[in-house]
Amino acid sequence: MARGCAFLGSDTAILCGAMSWVSERNLVAAMSNSGGFGVIACGAMTPELLDAEIAGTKALTSKPFGVNLITMHPDLFALIGVCEKHGVGHVVLAGGIPPKGSIDAIKAFGAQVIVFAPTLALAKKQFRGGADALVIEGSEAGGHIGPISTSVLAQEFLPELAAEHVVFVAGGIGRGDMIAAYLEMGAAGVQMGTAFACASESIAHPDFKKAFFRAKARDAETSVQIDARLPVIPVRALKNKGTEEFAAKQREVALLLDQGSVDMGEAQLQIEHYWAGALRRAVVDGDIENGSLMAGQSVGMVTAEEPVADIIARLMRESEAALTRR
Ligand SMILES: Cc1cc2nc3c(=O)[nH]c(=O)nc-3n(C[C@H](O)[C@H](O)[C@H](O)COP(=O)(O)O)c2cc1C
Repeated sequence: MARGCAFLGSDTAILCGAMSWVSERNLVAAMSNSGGFGVIACGAMTPELLDAEIAGTKALTSKPFGVNLITMHPDLFALIGVCEKHGVGHVVLAGGIPPKGSIDAIKAFGAQVIVFAPTLALAKKQFRGGADALVIEGSEAGGHIGPISTSVLAQEFLPELAAEHVVFVAGGIGRGDMIAAYLEMGAAGVQMGTAFACASESIAHPDFKKAFFRAKARDAETSVQIDARLPVIPVRALKNKGTEEFAAKQREVALLLDQGSVDMGEAQLQIEHYWAGALRRAVVDGDIENGSLMAGQSVGMVTAEEPVADIIARLMRESEAALTRR
């Protein structure tokens, strides 16, 4: 993990991936104070809200932490300005290929830029464009996902990139044995979300946490697109009333489209808006029936609330034991 630790400035190269509504000051500070690396989820926050969240996190930890910005945020460059104002050391650009000038704007104030890439060619292009590190995230992960599993991404990307570049592996990691395996393949460290979402320090609603503790791997399902005309971005979340009704909603809108009662733009908007605010409803309000319970397949290994420090200590113990057995 030495390379990952040196890059992050942390004791272990375990990042807690940004989770909207969950990765706020308490979880982020707990992560960094426990020797991991916390990342604030900016999500749809305004620059003013991000400003307050970074200041609040700094009040709780003197250790390094990062900020995750969504590339299609309309105020992306203002948000980068907020990170600059606070001297944030690591900015993660998520949700798409970074727009022109964004990587340079972050590097201009000396921060490290961490990116995602769905293909090897795009990963190489982003490193040429100045990215400092890459997260490869497989389809086992919670939240918005791509189509390829972590194990296949690791085999495709690590042999090509890991000798020269800092690469973190994410998606489906629940035990230290798995961390050890990816480190052996050349990863600099790992990023995990599901394992930390329900830590004692997480402000997620108690009912959200209970749903995680009850769930098995097979309950964390990918959203399915029913009609070719109505695109659905794949999201992995625990199945509930909301996910069931989403299928019915797609059929209903497709029928309206067939009948000519709505045009294509309106139909696509109705599908897009179905989940608006749904993660907040689940995490903050505890509406586990209609909200979005984003979770990865490793949710089956999350069975009780534990402090972040205990989770990290266990992962490191398991990882060390696995390497010692070798
Ligand atoms: C509840 C939840 C919300 C998430 N929200 C975001 C987000 O806002 N931005 C982002 O880049 N990734 C998000 N993710 C993905 C995580 O940052 C992380 O990459 C992922 O959880 C790793 O896979 P794992 O869940 O198998 O550990 C979210 C994941 C979960 C479980």
